[in-house]
Amino acid sequence: MDTAALNSLLCPICGLEFSDSTPRSLSCGNGHSFDFARQGYLNLLTGHGTKFVPDTAAMVEARDAFLDAGHYQQLADALSEGVRELLAGRGAGPGVASDAEPALIIDAGTGTGYYLQHILAKLGQDASHNVAAVGLDISKFALRRAARRNPDAVNIVWDLWRELPLGAGVADVVLVIFAPRNSREFARILKPGGHLLVVTPLPGHLADIADEAGLLGIQEDKEAALKESFGGEFELLGSQELLVPLQLAPADIGNVALMGPAGHHMDPVQLGEKLRHLPAVTGATAAFRISMFQPRSV
Ligand SMILES: C[S@@+](CC[C@H](N)C(=O)[O-])C[C@H]1O[C@@H](n2cnc3c(N)ncnc32)[C@H](O)[C@@H]1O
Ligand SMILES: [Zn+2]
Repeated sequence: MDTAALNSLLCPICGLEFSDSTPRSLSCGNGHSFDFARQGYLNLLTGHGTKFVPDTAAMVEARDAFLDAGHYQQLADALSEGVRELLAGRGAGPGVASDAEPALIIDAGTGTGYYLQHILAKLGQDASHNVAAVGLDISKFALRRAARRNPDAVNIVWDLWRELPLGAGVADVVLVIFAPRNSREFARILKPGGHLLVVTPLPGHLADIADEAGLLGIQEDKEAALKESFGGEFELLGSQELLVPLQLAPADIGNVALMGPAGHHMDPVQLGEKLRHLPAVTGATAAFRISMFQPRSV
């Protein structure tokens, strides 16, 4: 596991750095100790409890299957290229000595780690690959998979609405891909010249299968709302829209249904009934916006 990523962490109980780390656990100077799970992730929420209901194993499995089928590959590619350019600008790109301080990427709401995996693979294509990563998510089912996909990253069970267990000004890039937006905390952990990349669905995202996949009634992100949620701490530098044509089999639509918020209450019999009537292939369009923000200088 990457040392630079471990060094960015703070004890969630007392706020000290973890002075003692082994492959099995982390301890701070006050003797607070946290063990890595057998599957490789780290649960820092221990003892805190949370009211939040995390995604179930079935929901996580559906998301993983859908993403692994490559339907959102274009988004993964766009993000990978975007992060590569940002880090090249910072001086971690080609030609930079590999003993320079690694760039730190924080993936807030990393899920199964799919996008982070693509981004790290892209950066790894440069000989000067010098990057460390932390993935945060509240679902341990998701993090089991994230730890497998991204074994060098530190994957942490954490609630993004709490103060993050990370030092101030440690991150070069914060990624928020369809995940909660704790603007104040993202601004605190970013370096002054760092960047926040936020992915949100555009109006019309998967509209063709909204009924079948139980997506009706889910509010899509409007750009104004997005700007507002980061308005205080961040300046919007630019945004990119991505329209991805999809050809979806009934099983893919079933996965979309299960992986979304409706997945919490989905009746498998009802879902099976809906999928049975679908054609072999249904066309749909995924519509995303990638927005790039930078912390306002104070
Ligand atoms: C729609 S998924 C996106 C996951 C991943 N970024 C991706 O695109 O594949 C949203 C993720 O946010 C996580 N999440 C939701 N609320 C959270 C919270 N309060 N703290 C941490 N993670 C949270 C969920 O567990 C889920 O993995
Ligand atoms: Zn402590």
